[in-house]
Amino acid sequence: MESHLPPASNAVVSSLLDSLPVEPLMTRDFDTRPALVYERLRERYGPVAPVEVFGVPVWLVLGFREVLDVLRDESRWKKDVRHWRALQQGRIPSDWPLLPAYRVDQLLFQDDQRRAATRTAVDAALRPFQDPRQPQARALTSAVARQVDELITFFADGGSSGWVDLCAQFARPLPLMVVNRLFGFPVEQGDEIFMDAWRMMDSGPDAAAAIERLLAATTELAAHKRSQPGDDLTSRLLAADQSLTVEQAGRELYAILVAIADTTTHSVTNGVLEVLTGNSGARGSLTAGLIGELVNRVHIVSPPWSNLTFRYPVADTSLGGFRIAAGDVVMPSIAAAHGDPLFASAINEDSAMSSRAHLAWGAGPHQCPGRGLADMMVSAAVGRLFERCDLELGLPVDRLPWRSSTYVRGMRSFPVKFQMRAQPIPAPGTRSADPTAAPEAATPGQRTEADAGANADQPRPALRRFMANLRKGVPVIGDGMVH
Ligand code: HEM
Repeated sequence: MESHLPPASNAVVSSLLDSLPVEPLMTRDFDTRPALVYERLRERYGPVAPVEVFGVPVWLVLGFREVLDVLRDESRWKKDVRHWRALQQGRIPSDWPLLPAYRVDQLLFQDDQRRAATRTAVDAALRPFQDPRQPQARALTSAVARQVDELITFFADGGSSGWVDLCAQFARPLPLMVVNRLFGFPVEQGDEIFMDAWRMMDSGPDAAAAIERLLAATTELAAHKRSQPGDDLTSRLLAADQSLTVEQAGRELYAILVAIADTTTHSVTNGVLEVLTGNSGARGSLTAGLIGELVNRVHIVSPPWSNLTFRYPVADTSLGGFRIAAGDVVMPSIAAAHGDPLFASAINEDSAMSSRAHLAWGAGPHQCPGRGLADMMVSAAVGRLFERCDLELGLPVDRLPWRSSTYVRGMRSFPVKFQMRAQPIPAPGTRSADPTAAPEAATPGQRTEADAGANADQPRPALRRFMANLRKGVPVIGDGMVH
């Protein structure tokens, strides 16, 4: 194959993305061993590589410094799809599978003042649920701790050992329960909305229909909360920016739902996987009881949101030795940036505290607004799981079923063998003297007295119903696609 290496000097190459022969990114290798694909591309092209995503040429940004530059500089790099030259020129097929998601006008695809206004409202709506001093955050933390315990009790089903699909029976229901509570859905949403979020993220043939269903559900919710507000994220979003129409609020809720669904699920399963496959840093953090550390380390080695949505430069620019024309499409890769020797060689895996200077939450104006909530949920889930169970991989590592997704890194299912540990339940006398007192904020992964009161050994009937409904709807998971 001909080499298309940029010149060794810093001089730019004056070739257009459209005229470069490009390799498809979405291959079997990419699904199973993406790190190898990134390294091959880095070796061949340097920090920026032309690739093809479902037939469309895209610049993939692999270098840590280059990804950071793109994410931080909103004056040069835009997210609004109207900046995409090939799309404006009608050169992107209307049935291109990634396109429907880019057509939804929401925070992730807004720039400048519009972005700032929406972001202010989203930040304000999320704040009480993430600030540990607020009763809403404390109540949510307690609810998550209880739900984690209930999910474990539920999959153990009274036995001391057995098999569990940690994805379908633990890591996916948890954020679904959080979404139900946080958003204030009057009727509990089932697994189908998360399956739709997956369909959208995996850009399958049914992505457009999945997006429509999700938007219908979130817009209906926004309309309901406009007339009957409660103490939930939806009502707070509507109150934070009263000029928002229910359709706009619905689109923001849809975006938040998708952000929660995929990332937190895979943050949990990737975390468990790192421990079970012997990542020494992750195991060391677990042994030391530093669950937040464990989660942070996993976000470095296996960021769940591995490749970010597109950016477009407003003027011709040079990046990684290539000339990127105004309106070209660029995809920053967090996973590749974390493998960049510039970043990877600076990471000391033996140090007790891992670096926070990573990109798993993004950077710049679109950096994740839900970090506090995500950390709380994932730490609670991973911490309590290992506290209550000994786990063993249910499949050899090379047979784990990875999703085929441009954007996320996670397993479709995660079969694991579990053995329950003996559980010290607090003695009755150690419970709160005042049963009406508001629950204290729990350290993630730790049970509060209120949770002990809820008795983790007895899942509530509501959870039984909820899980039974999920089981009925257990999806048949095919080749890279959730049907
Ligand atoms: C482990 C879990 C999570 C990870 C790894 C993660 C990662 C990220 C990343 C990398 C971005 C930046 C995207 C970009 O620049 O293109 C982002 C944005 C976003 N995240 Fe998260 N996220 C997580 C959980 C959450 C949660 C729990 C919420 C909400 C409660 C949330 C809401 C959002 C929203 C609304 C955006 C768009 C922000 C904007 O465009 O200004 N995320 N997230």
